[in-house]
Parts: sequence; structure tokens; C-alpha cells
Amino acid sequence: MKVPSEIEAWLNQILCADALEVLPQLPAESVDLVLTDPPYFLDKLDNEWTPERAARRYYQSQAVFHLPPGMKFDPSQGRRMYEWYLEVSRELYRVLKPGGFFFSFASPRLYHRVATAIEDAGFHIRDCFLWLYTQNQPKAMTLYHFIDKMQLSESAKAELKQRIAGWKTPQVKSCFEPIIIAQKPYEDTFLENFLRHGVGLFNTEVRIGQNMFPANVLLVEGVEAVLDKYFLVPKPSVEERGRFNQHPTAKPLALCEYLIQLSTVEGAVVLDPFLGSGTTALAARSLKRHFIGIEINPEYVAIAQRRLQNATPSLFAES
Ligand SMILES: C[S@@+](CC[C@H](N)C(=O)[O-])C[C@H]1O[C@@H](n2cnc3c(N)ncnc32)[C@H](O)[C@@H]1O
Repeated sequence: MKVPSEIEAWLNQILCADALEVLPQLPAESVDLVLTDPPYFLDKLDNEWTPERAARRYYQSQAVFHLPPGMKFDPSQGRRMYEWYLEVSRELYRVLKPGGFFFSFASPRLYHRVATAIEDAGFHIRDCFLWLYTQNQPKAMTLYHFIDKMQLSESAKAELKQRIAGWKTPQVKSCFEPIIIAQKPYEDTFLENFLRHGVGLFNTEVRIGQNMFPANVLLVEGVEAVLDKYFLVPKPSVEERGRFNQHPTAKPLALCEYLIQLSTVEGAVVLDPFLGSGTTALAARSLKRHFIGIEINPEYVAIAQRRLQNATPSLFAES
């Protein structure tokens, strides 16, 4: 696939910057796919991250003390997420080719805000992948420490603890992540759009599980024979994220590879405006697609660059 000449200077680079400063500079209708996992505005994990704020020491000292990071419930987080993601999505709409897909991870708690922001920017919400997993720490907490601070006798405290035994803060174990499937409206017909721009259809020869038709449920760990047969993409290897990779939300490579293969052809341009430790870039290059990555935190940019350098050199032959 021939890349539009206006975008050539941006290709296969990681830009250390605020996405909202870079996106307006990218040429219109030059990107084939946006695949991204944005910051979710939970506690300190928002778009106001600066290198200093994002440093691990910051989280250790400033993160909400009584609840684990991400668990403090504040409805204004969702509203702020919506407003910011609407602005981001408008820029993504401009840079995508007609019919181009926008796959956005979204937290179960803020899914509705993420989806509405994308839709209000002009995209069509076509579906949603559910990435299912079983390995996660339950975040629900006991309330015993509050009882310990009450002005009660030890026996009254013990009685109270017995009364609320098993009752915890209202958090079930989180075992899925939604990935919104949005599409910029296509021109004329699906066929004409695909022939003109090379995007807008799904490649159903990209199979999942045991040679199965692409579904909207994805697993990257073996769970049970029938589920694995229909929904398993290759499991992550131990080495793939890199032992030096401290990013808290690095995504499985095979998941990103699956989404890229499903929606783009070789030589396509894949944009991730919140690149983190670089998984989208790594997946794009391994499939002979170009990438454009934006990441605000220089520590994560360094990790992403190291991961790219460590990948098999043959994967990075120019396509
Ligand atoms: C959920 S993480 C992405 C993780 C990534 N998918 C991976 O596999 O490593 C979101 C990233 O967005 C970055 N970020 C937050 N605000 C940003 C902004 N305004 N512009 C660019 N990057 C930003 C954060 O530093 C964080 O690394």
C-alpha cells in the first residue's frame, strides 16, 4: 500500500509530547487505523500526567491513601474524561481516512463516557470487543480498620466485625476490558471506499482460536477448551513485554497484532496517541505496518524504544 507523501516524515517515530499538541499537526485523512489505550482519569491516571507526576515516587507518595489507585469513586472523573476524549476523538476523526477504524480500550467504569465521546466526534460505534481474563487482583476492601478506630470496647469491635464478616467495598474482581470498535463513516459504498482508501472492511481470513471466524470476545490465556477454541489469540510470551518494562498497563502483543491484522493491509499507517510502553508500535512493525506513536512520559518513551530495538531486526525491514 502506498503511504500518502504528507505523512512520510511522521512514520515509525515515537514523539514524546502531549497528544493534543501533536495530533493537530498530522495531515488529514492520512492514517489507516487508530489503536489506543487512553489514560482513564482514575485518580492520578489522567491526561495531566507530567514526567514528574508520573514518576513512581509520585504515585507512592500521592496516590489515594485509603483506596488502591484507580478505585476512588469520583463521578467528575467520567465527565472530565468525556470532555477531553471528545477533543482527542475529533482530531483522530480528522486524521483517519474515510472508513478507517478507531479501536479504543476503555475501562468498564468509564466505558459509557469513552464511547459517547467517540460517537459525538462523528464516528459510528459498530461493536465492542470484550477482552476477557481471569488473572486479576480483587480490589474490594474490608472495613475492619474503620471499626478499629471506633470508640468501642474490644468485645464490641469483635462483635461488629463478625456482623460484617464477608461484606466489603462494592468492587467485584475486574475480568474484562472493553475495546470500542468505532469507524469513521465511509465514502459511497464499502467496496468503493476499500478500493479507494484500503480501509473499512475486516479481513475475516485472520482467524482466532482454532481457525474460527473473528468474534467480539478475545482471550489471551487458555481458560477452557470451548472458549479457547473460539476466542483465544496467541498467549503472551514471558519475554514479550521486556523485563525492564515497568509500565503498569502494558497490553498483550498478540491482542494488538490481531486487531491490526483484522483491520489493515500491509504498509498501512497505525497511530497510537497514548503509546505507553510501545505495544502498538511493536505489533505494527511485526506485521509490516508503519506506526506513529505519541507518549507524554519520557520514561515510557525510553521503554518503548528499547522494546522496538530488542525486537528481531528482520521484523523492521522497511515495507
Ligand atoms: C493506558 S497507558 C497505554 C499503555 C500501552 N497500551 C502499553 O501497552 O504500554 C496510557 C498512556 O498514555 C500516556 N498519556 C497520558 N496523557 C497523555 C497525553 N496527554 N498525551 C500523550 N500520552 C499521554 C500515559 O503516560 C500512559 O503511558
